[in-house]
Amino acid sequence: MKTSIVFILLTIFAHSRGQYHYQGLMNYLENRMLAMEERIAVWHEQNNRHSSDLKEFRQQAADLLEKLYKEHGKLSSDMEHAGARVDRVEREMDYIETKNPPRPCVKATDKMVEQDAVVKEKNKDEFFELSVCVNIVSSLKAMKILKRLGSPKGSWTKDARSAKVYVFNSTSDSTLYEFSSVRELSASADVSKARQITVPSAWNGTGHAVYDGFLYYTSDSSELRVIKFDLTNGSVADSAVLPMEERGPVYQLNPETQVDLVADEDGLWALYPSGDNINLAKMDSSTLDIEQMWDTTCPRTNAEAAFIVCGTVYVVYNTKPPSRSRIQCVFDVNDMVTSGEAPLIYFPRRFGAHSSLKYNPEERQLYAWDDGYQILYKLALKKKLWAVLPPPEE
Ligand SMILES: *[C@@H]1O[C@H](CO)[C@@H](O)[C@H](O)[C@H]1NC(C)=O
Ligand SMILES: *[C@@H]1O[C@H](CO)[C@@H](O)[C@H](O)[C@H]1NC(C)=O
Ligand SMILES: *[C@@H]1O[C@H](CO)[C@@H](O)[C@H](O)[C@H]1NC(C)=O
Repeated sequence: MKTSIVFILLTIFAHSRGQYHYQGLMNYLENRMLAMEERIAVWHEQNNRHSSDLKEFRQQAADLLEKLYKEHGKLSSDMEHAGARVDRVEREMDYIETKNPPRPCVKATDKMVEQDAVVKEKNKDEFFELSVCVNIVSSLKAMKILKRLGSPKGSWTKDARSAKVYVFNSTSDSTLYEFSSVRELSASADVSKARQITVPSAWNGTGHAVYDGFLYYTSDSSELRVIKFDLTNGSVADSAVLPMEERGPVYQLNPETQVDLVADEDGLWALYPSGDNINLAKMDSSTLDIEQMWDTTCPRTNAEAAFIVCGTVYVVYNTKPPSRSRIQCVFDVNDMVTSGEAPLIYFPRRFGAHSSLKYNPEERQLYAWDDGYQILYKLALKKKLWAVLPPPEE
């Protein structure tokens, strides 16, 4: 179009014949204007059509969303119902079980103390359900005071793999005791029958972990070091310096423990202080590498101990002087449980305070050391799923 206008203007100037050519130009321009008006009218129409199309589409999307929302509501109410039914069946089974005590062949894991020290040869998948583990602690089912051995503070734990029991008397020593079973420990008057194991440097605190024949403990000299010790042949398998920025107690009420180690099928965990909070690190149990860190946001103040079940940290609080210990802060690495959703669980009233709590996933019980007493707490667990859905109504 531009070229034709230029051509016409050139024509006008070249001939300069006035009227006639001027009229021709006017006609031409008028025609162009008409054509443009027509095109604008078409655009308008198309535009209107598009916007009504858009409106329609919006309406359709809104309808679809509403429908989806309704279906979601129905699905979660279905799941709630299913949950309530599972709960009911579980209660009925509990009832039937109390009416008909288990026969001897029933899985022995629910007993507080194992029958004998024979280790059941299970394969890895059977041994733990941790990788698919979706349990949270719902209540404390039972407690058993086994005996009083050693100093007010210390720890004891059972290797979930070998079933051997280890006693760490006091918060700084280098000799620990190995018993072949909980039964053997409770039957023996002192530690004279136990196998004595001496570690190369004294441990500090009560944050030791034993798993699959290895002891993981921290020793504090010029630097805070985690040592992996082979309990079967008494040699150091590996060691690493922990990159903790600050030194201090991870639990205010147990100032000797700077790092609390937990070893399980998922690997090695370390609870350590950071500012006012307790932080969590996931470590590789074979290389002692730190893989990931979290701020649990659980305060160190008035914390006494902590334990880990299925990737959820439970921090136990108390007061000074000791009153009732209670789980008052939880942290789930999978973000499925929050402190608000987990129940507030109180431990039975005791005279002392816990210096350590070690969870055994196979037996679902805690190995606790309270004022020199060795205590077992049996935990009741429930599925995490019900913690994220509203509780089933009944
Ligand atoms: C435990 O440690 C305390 C103090 O450190 C000591 O008096 C006691 O003899 C120890 N007991 C055993 C069984 O080693
Ligand atoms: C750790 O234990 C050693 C050896 O008993 C001791 O000298 C040191 O003071 C302890 N460290 C802490 C922080 O308790
Ligand atoms: C202890 O046993 C481990 C694994 O069997 C082996 O690698 C290590 O060399 C042994 N150490 C000693 C001192 O025997």
